Amino acid sequence: MGMINIGKIRIEDPLILAPMAGTTTLAFRSICHEMGSSYQPTELVSARSIMYSGIDKSMCYLMIDREKEGLSCIQLFGSDPKDFEYAIGKICEDPRLKDVDIIDINMGCPVPKVVKTGAGSALMREPKLAEEIIKASVKVCDSYGKELTVKTRIGYEDEDKDNGKAEDFIKMLSQSGAKLIAVHGRTRNQMYHGQADIKALARMRKACDGIPFIANGDIKDFNSGRNMLEVTGADGLMIGRAAQGNPWIFEELAGVFENKEKEAAKVTFEDRKKMLLRELELTIRYKDENIAVREMRPSMMAYIKGMPGAASLKVKLCSALTYEEVKDLLWTT
Ligand SMILES: Cc1cc2nc3c(=O)[nH]c(=O)nc-3n(C[C@H](O)[C@H](O)[C@H](O)COP(=O)(O)O)c2cc1C
Repeated sequence: MGMINIGKIRIEDPLILAPMAGTTTLAFRSICHEMGSSYQPTELVSARSIMYSGIDKSMCYLMIDREKEGLSCIQLFGSDPKDFEYAIGKICEDPRLKDVDIIDINMGCPVPKVVKTGAGSALMREPKLAEEIIKASVKVCDSYGKELTVKTRIGYEDEDKDNGKAEDFIKMLSQSGAKLIAVHGRTRNQMYHGQADIKALARMRKACDGIPFIANGDIKDFNSGRNMLEVTGADGLMIGRAAQGNPWIFEELAGVFENKEKEAAKVTFEDRKKMLLRELELTIRYKDENIAVREMRPSMMAYIKGMPGAASLKVKLCSALTYEEVKDLLWTT
């Protein structure tokens, strides 16, 4: 059995849904939690935007519901310790968000819009600043009884993973007060191309000093999850794209820590259509129906992928605006 402590939070068999902008909405996070995900960070939210534009502007991304998603985790990005101090304080004081359990700091986002502000994976090139950010954030988290975690990559440049730079970075993070590190097995320069480097993740795992290490990248079924655990020695797994349109991945991985593959019921196209509607129904509880349907488009595409008639269904779903329209299309196309 896998058991980790994120500060005072104890988790058995940690399977974590990876944060994904546009996908990991409260509705999708709740569904993945029902399927066995231990916790699910929100997508990245700008600490600076909370500081300068107020918290309400980001509330649609920050929304949490401990009843539905179990532990709650908000992911922030930024490049100034002061922004993080302010944003974390603001979150912990807000009546809608104060029950948050974990604040996660993004040090891995490769998108130019984020990197050029010195945030996301750019922080891997500024270890001193990254350390200041962690220390400042941990201090605020401690004062509110929250845990601070970090998500990063195996380096910025491709050489970093082999020249010891990435290991030094991981070691620094683990010694700066963070309570868990999740690492995506690609460098920033790889973006999402190529294969996740599992051997590099194994080296990062060794560099991680005394806190749980979560491995991420290309886990798509029981065997790849098992291989990731065996090769890296990670304490837990984080699953991203394989969960899109397929929250059942968490059921499939349920026995991965004991190496006991459970006999999973085959997921039919009918099941996927029903799950799509369920996610839409949940999304509509939090948002205006038209907005919910539009925002769920990427998720809808993931659910219908591979179905007979998916190409024409995709086009029709993209012009649907109501729950009933989506439902009719799913059962008539
Ligand atoms: C559409 C999309 C959006 C993402 N958004 C975020 C994000 O907001 N924060 C973050 O830390 N990582 C983000 N990621 C990276 C994932 O969390 C994960 O590290 C990456 O997809 C590799 O894992 P996988 O192979 O299991 O998908 C995103 C990935 C995708 C595909």
